[in-house]
Amino acid sequence: MKLEVLLSPELLAARAADFFTAELERKPKLTVLVATGNTPMLTYAELERRVQRQELDCSSLTAVQLDEYLGLPESDPRSLYGWMNRSFLEPLGISKVIRFDPNLEPDPACTQFEAEVARAGGIDLAVLGLGPNGHLGFNEPPSNPQSVTRALELTPESLSSNAAYWGELPVPTHALTAGMNLILAARRVLLLVSGAHKRDVLSRALEGPQTPSLPASYLRDTDLTVLADIEAARGLK
Ligand code: F6R
Repeated sequence: MKLEVLLSPELLAARAADFFTAELERKPKLTVLVATGNTPMLTYAELERRVQRQELDCSSLTAVQLDEYLGLPESDPRSLYGWMNRSFLEPLGISKVIRFDPNLEPDPACTQFEAEVARAGGIDLAVLGLGPNGHLGFNEPPSNPQSVTRALELTPESLSSNAAYWGELPVPTHALTAGMNLILAARRVLLLVSGAHKRDVLSRALEGPQTPSLPASYLRDTDLTVLADIEAARGLK
């Protein structure tokens, strides 16, 4: 595991964009698992600036959706596909996407998703945020490392942290997530962690016991790079 501590969220985003750019230069047909949530937004905005300046070409990469709420149309502001589209796919000019098919029932959608990721040769790079309860995607605690892509009910902790995203709208209670199996098989993992509210969970993920009650603790078994801002990193030994 590599840990880099950055002095601000902006510097973290610049470093994450450098990391992403280097991966893409190495392999233009990169398959990337893409988190939404607040943390990676500055990074995606920095990548967009690089695309606009024609320093970066993302047209050959395949983006893979990390998670989605159940029961929402894509036009709903809470749809995570919609969020990924607005913040990542459109601005970076990406048209190749593996996503949860909204026209399928949850189980076949998950089976199809796993088959498409396998056909693509697996995930090259997973760009992840850290859930306040240690979740990855929506692999909620407890999730063991073999957990597959599936539908599940969100924990109260995730419901309350997700409530911050859309003001008055209620938070959906059920979701689909790429499984721990896919995340942990990614060739490289980039974990982005920002803010004092992530201090405790980050130190447990990196320094505590590996346990299903903290799914992020299993990232230490991958080729992991953690970029943490100083506020998040303050709790580390
Ligand atoms: C989002 C996702 C979540 C978030 C996590 C952290 O697609 O999968 O696991 O990465 O909840 O969210 P933020 O970055 O908003 O603190």
